[in-house]
Amino acid sequence: MVDRSGSDDLLRVGLFWPTSRTVFPTAYVCEQNPEALDLAAQQRLAVETEAAGFDFGVLADAYGTVSEESSRIGHHDPSIHAVLWAMALFSVTSRMGLISTMHPTFIDAIDLAQYGAQLDYVSNGRWGWNVTTGYRPDEPRLFGADGIADHDERYGIAEEAVVTVRRLWAEDRPQVEQRGTYVRLSGRLPGPGPATPGGPAMVNAGASDQGLRLAGRYCDYLFAPVVDHAHLERLDQRMREEAANAGRDSSAKVLAGVRCLLRDDPQEARDEWEVVKASMDASKELNVFAKTIAQGSKGAAYATNSGRGALQAERKEGALNPLVGTPETVAEELIELYHDHGYRGILVNTPYWTAGEMPRYGRMFARLQEAGVWQPISQRSSLW
Ligand SMILES: Cc1cc2nc3c(=O)[nH]c(=O)nc-3n(C[C@H](O)[C@H](O)[C@H](O)COP(=O)(O)O)c2cc1C
Repeated sequence: MVDRSGSDDLLRVGLFWPTSRTVFPTAYVCEQNPEALDLAAQQRLAVETEAAGFDFGVLADAYGTVSEESSRIGHHDPSIHAVLWAMALFSVTSRMGLISTMHPTFIDAIDLAQYGAQLDYVSNGRWGWNVTTGYRPDEPRLFGADGIADHDERYGIAEEAVVTVRRLWAEDRPQVEQRGTYVRLSGRLPGPGPATPGGPAMVNAGASDQGLRLAGRYCDYLFAPVVDHAHLERLDQRMREEAANAGRDSSAKVLAGVRCLLRDDPQEARDEWEVVKASMDASKELNVFAKTIAQGSKGAAYATNSGRGALQAERKEGALNPLVGTPETVAEELIELYHDHGYRGILVNTPYWTAGEMPRYGRMFARLQEAGVWQPISQRSSLW
């Protein structure tokens, strides 16, 4: 596989895509946003996101719902399908990447390979796979299984699926014989193969030891709930060690998820963030959501980073704080994170995705470019 993430040392900034009307578990935030399945709104968001300068969007996905209350307020239900909707978003963009979440726990390796090859081909190499193992307790029952394979077994399935799918994606589309514990198949895929030599970009979202290992061995990015700068350093170090052990030329970039709110005036940004926080504090769902995720993950960081603690507006020393301010002040914070703390990947999680929200990021990217920490996709040798 061609290692793309190490091809330069510049910052990558992605958008944690609003796959539901809100990815913040609060009714207030939800009410501000368009309907999740409004095709025109989603395509408008894609156009604005690309024009602003974002490198890619990450489309999370899951089968089960979070809770009745979440579904009532539109949090993760209804939501757009990460594979099907990537096609719709690719059709109105030409530079930005899109990363779809697909679960090897539930999807057959041949389907994983086919979906990925088609999306990468059609988008001319702009597609990536977010390998997630799933954690919601009700999901396996949707597939007719009584119990979910346990955490470690799910990673066993994921690793076999990743290895097999990448063999199916090889440029000469070879005959593949796989007789593993979980994945068994024999044959070759019809065309098209992926547009990206060596196969599409790969991401793993997982915080456990097994999750880090999977990312380090096979992926371009580790999507992680980074708690503080010391944590980022440990994750980076781990990615380097795994890459060296696997004989890779470069290691996976850590993509740190961070909440972000931009306004033209700094006080306006702080005030609006207080409103978002207050609605989160009043939300019954925040803790239910945080608890579900924390129970499904063996990585302690996820529990720390998804609950109320992660919302604090007071600036905690050494922490990856929410980015709240003007495009220019937030750019300065990112420049500092890049130079002083080694951040190379940021996944922006924004409460609002109404028209006009994304263009502000254009000013942030202009400042990042001026400071030499980021370049537009068109001026880089590699999207990923
Ligand atoms: C940053 C991050 C994003 C995730 N996104 C998804 C997702 O979109 N869909 C999903 O089913 N699981 C998602 N997960 C859950 C993981 O796929 C995984 O099942 C869970 O975290 C348990 O693995 P772990 O112990 O390695 O963390 C995510 C996990 C992390 C850390």
